[in-house]
Amino acid sequence: MNQAGILIFGVSGYAKLVADALLESGAFPIAGFVDRVAAPGMRFLGDFPVFAEADVLAGTAAEEARQAVVAIGDNAVREKVVGRIAATRPDLAFPVIRHPSALVSRFADVGAGTVLLPHAILNAAAKVGAQCSIYTNAVVEHDCVLADYVTLAPSVALGGNVHIGARSFLGLGATANHGCRIGDDTIVGAGGVVVTDLPDLSIAVGAPARVIRSRSRGSTYL
Ligand SMILES: CC(C)(COP(=O)(O)OP(=O)(O)OC[C@H]1O[C@@H](n2cnc3c(N)ncnc32)[C@H](O)[C@@H]1OP(=O)(O)O)[C@@H](O)C(=O)NCCC(=O)NCCS
Repeated sequence: MNQAGILIFGVSGYAKLVADALLESGAFPIAGFVDRVAAPGMRFLGDFPVFAEADVLAGTAAEEARQAVVAIGDNAVREKVVGRIAATRPDLAFPVIRHPSALVSRFADVGAGTVLLPHAILNAAAKVGAQCSIYTNAVVEHDCVLADYVTLAPSVALGGNVHIGARSFLGLGATANHGCRIGDDTIVGAGGVVVTDLPDLSIAVGAPARVIRSRSRGSTYL
């Protein structure tokens, strides 16, 4: 079996979207998926092999793979898995995964491991950190700054110069007015309309988005 190519860590719905973006872009052959546990001969999404994470990190499975993408939706969990891979398999690079329909300005920056799904748009001078997930139809306007491990769910729209802190999540169809600053580890619920700055570690919902409670770093939100 040819194991060269890219490993997709995760076997969720999001992992399917990432696989699709990879197949459409033709950037890297998919070596297989990686799950916490995997029985020998296991297959996912057609006929791709599934490897156990411990075997991959020990270098006893998929040792010919040269790239990885962590396709895990929860931002804090994704950060932990990236940390484990970086600590044990430094030979695995984290390329940007870009569906061919995603539009990225020549003046935008995108960090390692970030995934851009169909019709995502990054306009001029947008800076998107590492290991972010920019879902279908999300729009990041000019001069926005997204820290690492941010997720924008489908159809999120950010006005110009919005800043979003590390590991924050904006749910389906949420928007943020230009210039708003959203802290670290903050959640904006589906359809939320951010019109003022939001602090770290908060959950905000509604239009206009108001903080309904605080959260602790890494607490489950999906
Ligand atoms: C914001 C969110 C994380 C809160 O989830 P939760 O902690 O389970 O919150 P609850 O369901 O207990 O709701 C708490 C209150 O907020 C309200 N609420 C929850 N989500 C809301 C939303 N998106 N917009 C407006 N109000 C919302 C609930 O109606 C409830 O109100 P009440 O106290 O008056 O009854 C969740 O509702 C959400 O929007 N998740 C994003 C989903 C998404 O976009 N997924 C895409 C994956 S790619």
